[in-house]
Amino acid sequence: MKVLYKNQLIDREQAQVIDIEDRGYQFGDGVYEVIRVYNGHTFTLKEHLTRLFESAKKIKLTIPYKKKEITALVFQLIQANQLTEGTVYLQITRGNQSPRQHDFHLSQQSESILTGSTNPKAVNRAQLQQGVKATLIPDTRWLHCDIKSLNLLVNLLANAQAHEQGATEGIFHRDEIVTEGSHSNVFIVKNKQVITHPANHLILNGITRQVILAQCAATGIQLEEREFTRKELLEADEVFFTSTSTEGQGITEIDGQIIGDGQVGPLTKQIQQLVFQEINKQCGKIYV
Ligand SMILES: Cc1ncc(COP(=O)(O)O)c(C=O)c1O
Repeated sequence: MKVLYKNQLIDREQAQVIDIEDRGYQFGDGVYEVIRVYNGHTFTLKEHLTRLFESAKKIKLTIPYKKKEITALVFQLIQANQLTEGTVYLQITRGNQSPRQHDFHLSQQSESILTGSTNPKAVNRAQLQQGVKATLIPDTRWLHCDIKSLNLLVNLLANAQAHEQGATEGIFHRDEIVTEGSHSNVFIVKNKQVITHPANHLILNGITRQVILAQCAATGIQLEEREFTRKELLEADEVFFTSTSTEGQGITEIDGQIIGDGQVGPLTKQIQQLVFQEINKQCGKIYV
């Protein structure tokens, strides 16, 4: 198994020597991306790299490589690990600025560290058809959720709580307003209209979300980006969540309350098909 370290591939075993004073460990001072691979091809890689550079810029971190170079490294990693279906994880931290200090401006010696690895985990296709349960969780994260930052503790705790309660996904809310999932974007459907939280500082503008927005615009599905409440969520005809790792999954039950008729709804299925079409277009025939 190969992993990416700076701008080269090294053996997984060699990667255990990465610096213990890296600011990624000390402060979560870095950003990341997860990119899906189907058929050995990346899906929406360009969009993921754009977001990686945007996230880095927002935390004043310089990425010492061009997008073109990172693209080539991602392809090399996929090839070296013979990844046909799964994900590529990319992370960039502000590196080691020993001795540990909060202000990153104080250090002269700073080299941002790019690392990456692959995971051969396929999408859970049974869940795509059957739908999953979710649970509502207060959104206690910071106010820069548009940055795909390494600081994921609140998301991890939310996910753990969801699992403890027999649910697959936690759905965050700030008071009455539903923001997004613990690692996904959330959509509701009411009277054939699809609604999702606007892409502002309170959510991550998911790449899957962006694919769906474009597909809905292209096919005439009514979609509105606006805030919606917990009440609207629970009374929706359909609810689904989207992410790179899960694509788009129907939510059939939230905190014991059945959504719609308790099945993955027709618009959710239609949108799933649109995502499949885009995957097929970019990566070859995956979904028939
Ligand atoms: C908090 C959060 N929102 C949304 C998403 C969905 O983003 P994407 O579709 O780019 O995977 C993720 C994915 O990890 C996430 O962690």
